[in-house]
Amino acid sequence: MQYFPAAFFTKLSGINNHSKPWGATNMCRTTTSTLDIHLLRNALGSYPTGVAVVTASGRHRAPVGMTINSFTSISLDPPLLGWCIDRDSASFVDFTGATGFSISVLAKHQGDIAKRFATRSADKFVGLVEDPAMEPVIPESCALFRCRMYRVIPLGDHVMLVGRVTQFERREKPPLVFVGGKFRQLPDAPNIAA
Ligand SMILES: Cc1cc2nc3c(=O)[nH]c(=O)nc-3n(C[C@H](O)[C@H](O)[C@H](O)COP(=O)(O)O)c2cc1C
Repeated sequence: MQYFPAAFFTKLSGINNHSKPWGATNMCRTTTSTLDIHLLRNALGSYPTGVAVVTASGRHRAPVGMTINSFTSISLDPPLLGWCIDRDSASFVDFTGATGFSISVLAKHQGDIAKRFATRSADKFVGLVEDPAMEPVIPESCALFRCRMYRVIPLGDHVMLVGRVTQFERREKPPLVFVGGKFRQLPDAPNIAA
């Protein structure tokens, strides 16, 4: 499955007042044109991203988590980062009502975790949460960012959650990559200075 937030091409709407403007068709109406949403999704898929799992303590303190690639850094001062959640996600109410969340950036060997957390019905945390009293995170990831909720911003059929980083860790590991609708690993090629 390939995923891109529709927030990029839909207009601002209220958090509890959302309906998909293109209904059951593939078309997405913007202010100026009508676009084929599948073609647009494929075009956006040419942009490679990392893969992360966002986790939080949900309602009744049960852990919730999902695979995301909408993760983005926003600001260093204050330290802010964000991601977008689909309003149709089973964990939508848990994440938008949480006091914070954690982002685990997946390492190249964690494709199975990415698939597990992208599947709604899976028992996502089996074998991962050792202490139920702790905030749930993914072990052995490349980087971990623990955040306090800073802003909840309704954007089309997604909501952007902005967190203020309270703690972070980094491990020297190559990341998992997502491009063209597939998980990939970076080749061991020489780097080009940025
Ligand atoms: C590579 C990849 C990236 C994804 N990125 C997002 C994302 O940024 N936001 C989102 O809401 N869903 C994203 N998804 C879809 C969710 O992982 C998927 O819908 C998941 O089942 C949601 O969990 P839930 O419905 O149990 O809450 C992505 C899926 C994949 C495979």
